[in-house]
Amino acid sequence: MRFFIISALLIASAAADGIEQFKSEALKGISQQDEIYSHGITLQCDFGMIRHYWGEMYTCIARNLVTRHHYDYIMNATGDHMTGKTDKDVEAVYILGQRTRFLPYNISTPFNGVKAIRVEGSGLLFLNRTLKYEGPLEYLHLENNLLRTVPSWAFRGLTNLKWLSLRNNHIKYLESTMFRDMKSLRRFSASSNLIEVVPTGLFFYTPELEEVYFYNNKIRMIGGRLVASLGKLKVAVFMGNPCTQISVYDGVNVISRLSTEFTTKCGVNCVKAEEAAQDHIKDLREELQKKQECSSAMNEVQKQREYQNRMPAQPQLSAESQEH
Ligand SMILES: *[C@@H]1O[C@H](CO)[C@@H](O)[C@H](O)[C@H]1NC(C)=O
Ligand SMILES: *[C@@H]1O[C@H](CO)[C@@H](O)[C@H](O)[C@H]1NC(C)=O
Ligand SMILES: *[C@@H]1O[C@H](CO)[C@@H](O)[C@H](O)[C@H]1NC(C)=O
Repeated sequence: MRFFIISALLIASAAADGIEQFKSEALKGISQQDEIYSHGITLQCDFGMIRHYWGEMYTCIARNLVTRHHYDYIMNATGDHMTGKTDKDVEAVYILGQRTRFLPYNISTPFNGVKAIRVEGSGLLFLNRTLKYEGPLEYLHLENNLLRTVPSWAFRGLTNLKWLSLRNNHIKYLESTMFRDMKSLRRFSASSNLIEVVPTGLFFYTPELEEVYFYNNKIRMIGGRLVASLGKLKVAVFMGNPCTQISVYDGVNVISRLSTEFTTKCGVNCVKAEEAAQDHIKDLREELQKKQECSSAMNEVQKQREYQNRMPAQPQLSAESQEH
């Protein structure tokens, strides 16, 4: 057991160098060759007990994992198990310091009952296929990557997810429906991104939410009634943003304290424009002309929207939805 914990630490430090190099490489975009071929990948694992933030789990630590195409998928897994363990015992997949620009959508399928997926420092750039999972996925950490957008369909069906972290990526905008299926979500972090707007309705579907972290972003606008439905919220950390520095750790009067702060400091005047942006992007321009003060934040919302709309329709998506 000790061996594996140590080896995970070694992987972590060795990975740090490679990450910077890969970041620049990943940002160069997709070559023509990448667009044409998809690959079935054998997931090479070092198996071991790993202490994650949420507890110790028998884990596949991925090795030599490179993805080049958005349709790359996992064919099967290899690796030497600890005595007495089999694929069925694997509870977590840990991808650290690899080159996974695209997350293979069926990363967990070689194992039964994977509860946790961590993809960290691996240059993850696109999340544009719905994640397929076997068993109840409870923890999903996609930290220290290069994500710029999070399409609302990426997390469909994750009804058991308790923790989601997108910390330290390049995300500018969160879709208000991204949590639609996450009725069990307890903890969400989007800290250290480039988020400018937190849309109305983002937390409408997550009544169990206890902790939210948005520190170190570029938030200038927060939609009305953002936290109104969060009766269990105890911790909310918004420090390091242009419109608010509020951080609440004590769980006392959280909703009223946050609502007052957001209403007075984070551009209630813009809420109308923002709602228009959510629902009817075409109305946005008119709204913007009326509300000059929102314009740059709103332009950003619009750009993100247009970017996402430009993505080709996915034949795969409907096939996958039917599988669930
Ligand atoms: C992953 O998905 C691909 C393509 O849909 C499929 O061929 C493959 O068998 C799946 N892998 C596993 C381990 O289920
Ligand atoms: C994984 O699948 C490939 C292609 O079917 C096969 O050649 C390889 O032997 C498999 N590896 C394992 C460990 O099952
Ligand atoms: C995923 O994103 C890449 C890069 O934007 C794009 O080329 C590709 O078509 C997208 N795939 C799907 C299935 O939308």
